Amino acid sequence: MKSVNIGLLGFGTVGRGVYRVLESHKEKIFRTCHGNVHIKKILVRNVERYRNDFPDISALFTDDPREIIDDPEIEIVVEVMGGVKPAFDYVIDAMKNGKSIVTANKYMIAECGEKLFEAQENCGVDLFFEASVAGAIPIVKALKESLSGDEIKEIVAIINGTTNYTSRE
Ligand SMILES: NC(=O)c1ccc[n+]([C@@H]2O[C@H](COP(=O)([O-])OP(=O)(O)OC[C@H]3O[C@@H](n4cnc5c(N)ncnc54)[C@H](OP(=O)(O)O)[C@@H]3O)[C@@H](O)[C@H]2O)c1
Repeated sequence: MKSVNIGLLGFGTVGRGVYRVLESHKEKIFRTCHGNVHIKKILVRNVERYRNDFPDISALFTDDPREIIDDPEIEIVVEVMGGVKPAFDYVIDAMKNGKSIVTANKYMIAECGEKLFEAQENCGVDLFFEASVAGAIPIVKALKESLSGDEIKEIVAIINGTTNYTSRE
């Protein structure tokens, strides 16, 4: 039976949601993937505060990113800390160490998308960023796979619940 270890970068609104979903869907994930997913470490800045607020999982918190990036047992890094720096550096280093990435970070994807895709290609890992686009409406997968035969030059629309659209005309 396979067990996949995950390192979580950030435990705010999104990070807690990821943790809750993975915990509450454990059985379903097991049935579908024939294995367990396990959050091994969670990166935050204020470790003491999180240990007090979440005593049941206090041992998971760290303020040292290398505990996730350099852990050979962690296969997937979920980046939900936000901002470009230092998130971008952590993601690049994790990919170089053979870890696949899932990110909800729209700012990082918008600013550094090309560099990230290049690193992903070079490292031979996966980079999933569906949660960072269009309020997690599954549009990226549809564009990449279902519409891969089409030539899409531009999308002009409201594609994020927190974005205000202004016409360019
Ligand atoms: N909130 C949403 O509805 C939503 C929806 C879609 C996408 N997103 C994206 O998801 C990401 C996270 O959003 P959020 O709302 O969950 O943010 P948040 O509530 O501010 O949480 C950020 C988390 O990351 C940690 N963190 C931030 N910088 C860090 C650093 N330099 N080193 C270590 N830990 C650090 C924080 O720890 P400390 O508390 O110790 O600082 C906190 O646990 C962002 O990129 C956001 O754009 C958010």
